[in-house]
Amino acid sequence: MTQPLPKDRTRSRSLYVHTLGCQMNEYDSLRLRRILGAEGYTSTSHMEEADVIFLNTCSVREKPEQKVYSFLGRLRRLKTRNPALKILVGGCMAQQLGRQLLDRFDTVDLVLGTRAVGYVRELLERVRETGSRLAYLPEEEAPEDPPCWTQAPAADSITALITIMQGCDNFCTYCIVPYVRGRERSRPPERIVLEAKWAVESGVREVVLLGQNVNSYGHGLSPRVSFVELLGRVQEVPGLSRIRFTTSHPKDLTESLMKAFVELPALCPHLHLPFQSGSDRVLRAMNRGYTAAQYAQKIYRLREICPEIALSADVMVGFPGETEKDFQDTLELMESIRFDSLFSFIYSDRPFTRAAQFGDKVDSATKSRRLSQLQELQARITLEKNRAEVGAVREVLVEGESKASNGQFTGRTPQNRVVNFVGSRQWIGRLIPVRIVDAYSHSLKGEAVSRGGEGFFQGGD
Ligand code: SAH
Ligand code: SF4
Ligand code: F3S
Repeated sequence: MTQPLPKDRTRSRSLYVHTLGCQMNEYDSLRLRRILGAEGYTSTSHMEEADVIFLNTCSVREKPEQKVYSFLGRLRRLKTRNPALKILVGGCMAQQLGRQLLDRFDTVDLVLGTRAVGYVRELLERVRETGSRLAYLPEEEAPEDPPCWTQAPAADSITALITIMQGCDNFCTYCIVPYVRGRERSRPPERIVLEAKWAVESGVREVVLLGQNVNSYGHGLSPRVSFVELLGRVQEVPGLSRIRFTTSHPKDLTESLMKAFVELPALCPHLHLPFQSGSDRVLRAMNRGYTAAQYAQKIYRLREICPEIALSADVMVGFPGETEKDFQDTLELMESIRFDSLFSFIYSDRPFTRAAQFGDKVDSATKSRRLSQLQELQARITLEKNRAEVGAVREVLVEGESKASNGQFTGRTPQNRVVNFVGSRQWIGRLIPVRIVDAYSHSLKGEAVSRGGEGFFQGGD
């Protein structure tokens, strides 16, 4: 099942991948690219010239779902022009809808459930050979991909995403993830370390470890390895400059993880810790397992241990039954924590979830108004926090030329702030000290400096 085809059966075909949703979907898309890459498929950024199109979907909110329908609608034209084109749909919507996607869209050839990516090679072959249309939603993941699939260069990127665990057991009442990603499973630590090593060998300097709730990494592994131990092992990979991870659950944020931010030099001082709401009543209805005060307490303790830590979070407005008072509690928590950045969402009912059955839904005008009010407050805080960076010298991992180009390069501070500055191509992948000279709402402007205070750039590479 896992052996690649002999070379002489490969021929060059092109693959177009479109990814929606979270970074775990990005990781799966990269996996699929590598598996089909070993079959001779080359990636194209032009959908029109593709032999295979893979659409990786998300069903966490209503909005990304609608994007999928409009994308699939647009593919009809391509299929008419090239009947040999194969269209694959994967990700959480594929898992949620299964065969229904085949029934609704006659352009779709293969539906891959969230645990089916490892089987894509065989499935695609079957579709090609028999002309049939398939939906495959296995209960179990395929065994770990063989090295010859995974070891391929991790694209021309400085950062590699590595999924360390799949699924989720938390069942927050609004969330579809446990239903579409299944029960929580941790990948073997040896394999994660190996993937980090391969990534570094292909030029990567930073890894982001992914899971819905990384704090509970290790359950079910024998011998058990905690998340903090895993971080320690990944840090040993020679040549790796930075480690980040996402997402943590507040109820499971331990003292030992807080300490890891100061004890592990490669671990960046940035934590993404969704709080969802500042109202205890709403948090209880969400089944989150903590109160607003307990959340704040953890943050105070974390800041005590690691004062330079940056914080980001997810929050939503308009959960069923959310009153004006509940919403004010959310704003209050934001004011008291002062997050460096925040992702905010409007609640939407999702299939299978308990909250979808809750009464007392908030009307959409109120939800939109609350979202803008919340975003206005956060925009002010983010800008204030960015402005407070002016004058500081931060170590920036240089990622590449900035989109606007004109000699500008871009990278991130350890706290995950984007910095643009004049630089040189040779710096890509290096840690460069940069003085922050200006601040905007989404980025900072910097000037590279040498340790001695002289212009790093003028000083040559
Ligand atoms: N595992 C992560 C989050 C995964 S989903 C965690 O527990 O924090 C990413 C974010 O989408 C969530 O944090 C939540 O804010 C938002 N989200 C999830 N379900 C939602 C829904 N039904 N409506 C609106 N936002 C939702
Ligand atoms: Fe969803 Fe909650 Fe699991 Fe996050 S922890 S994926 S919000 S059920
Ligand atoms: Fe979306 Fe599935 Fe990720 S629902 S957020 S793609 S786990």
